[in-house]
Amino acid sequence: MSFSAYKLFIAPLVAATLAGCAGNGDGLDANGKPIGSSGGGTAPLTADFQSIQVNVFTPICSPCHSGASAPEGLMLDAGHSYNLLVGIPSAEVPTLSRVKAGDPNNSYMVLKIQGSAGIVGGRMPLNGTPLPQATIDVIRTWITNGAPQGTATASATNAMAKIQSLGNSAPAAPFAVTDTAPLDNTTVIAPVARIVVAFNHEVDASLINYTTLTLERVASARTDSPVPMGEVGMPPTPFVVPTSAALAAGNPSVIVLTPAAPLVTGTYRVSVRGTGGGALADVNVQTLGSDYSFTFNVDVSQ
Ligand code: HEC
Repeated sequence: MSFSAYKLFIAPLVAATLAGCAGNGDGLDANGKPIGSSGGGTAPLTADFQSIQVNVFTPICSPCHSGASAPEGLMLDAGHSYNLLVGIPSAEVPTLSRVKAGDPNNSYMVLKIQGSAGIVGGRMPLNGTPLPQATIDVIRTWITNGAPQGTATASATNAMAKIQSLGNSAPAAPFAVTDTAPLDNTTVIAPVARIVVAFNHEVDASLINYTTLTLERVASARTDSPVPMGEVGMPPTPFVVPTSAALAAGNPSVIVLTPAAPLVTGTYRVSVRGTGGGALADVNVQTLGSDYSFTFNVDVSQ
């Protein structure tokens, strides 16, 4: 709520500041209405992420798709949905992204809400009333338009940050981790095929490698029981899990880690190197400033 209030405040301010160079449309949503006019659940849905979040994901999807036990690890509440949709492979059909920017027909999330042939499991919302075609069309339009996270509001916020840094009044936010999946200190159900680490800035892709990001299995099924030396098929812990890492397609502030084999039960730690010569940095050569790590358990379902 306070975030929307902030946007309501900043959008007209910056639109006014930049009136000379902003072109047309800044400060307006996809229907040409002022930003914020579609911010409530009762306002008409428009083809921008914020509106889809408020009108569809939050009220209809997030009751199931939230928290550590979110189906297929897909959290669709406001803090997580974008990071886990755009450019992230589907768990059910890993050859497809959940949302492929520019291509709704190859976006698994769209196939799931359409109930298309070829989906695994049920049509979404599961066991609920299918979304009206008009709603599906708006979501498709957002994806066709490149599935941007922001609207004119976001570019206005960026412009505001630039103005502030020119005036030396406030530095841009430090490079930081904003979201992970699995969440820190949670237990998720095996197998886990991929891990997501989201940042607040675009990441320098050339720095993504096995020294800047590591995945280790630090204990067997429970955090308090180290893997016994003799455990069948498992080396003693901690050991580094062979993993590939890359930016999510069309979502360059999100890194997807894909273990060579889906993770079995145990406790895992992801570490991001944030200092020194070999540190991860954003596209402006800003490092995290300190190392970052998070831990999660992988368990069998009850
Ligand atoms: C009643 C609970 C429930 C609701 C509501 C629900 N889902 Fe799901 N969703 C599930 C379950 C359970 C699965 C896994 C089993 C399946 O696919 O049938 C799933 C799977 C998915 C997947 C597959 C994820 C992947 O990585 O393969 C997508 C995409 C998805 N849901 C999107 C949505 C969207 C979008 C909405 C809202 C329009 C929604 N769901 C509403 C329970 C729900």
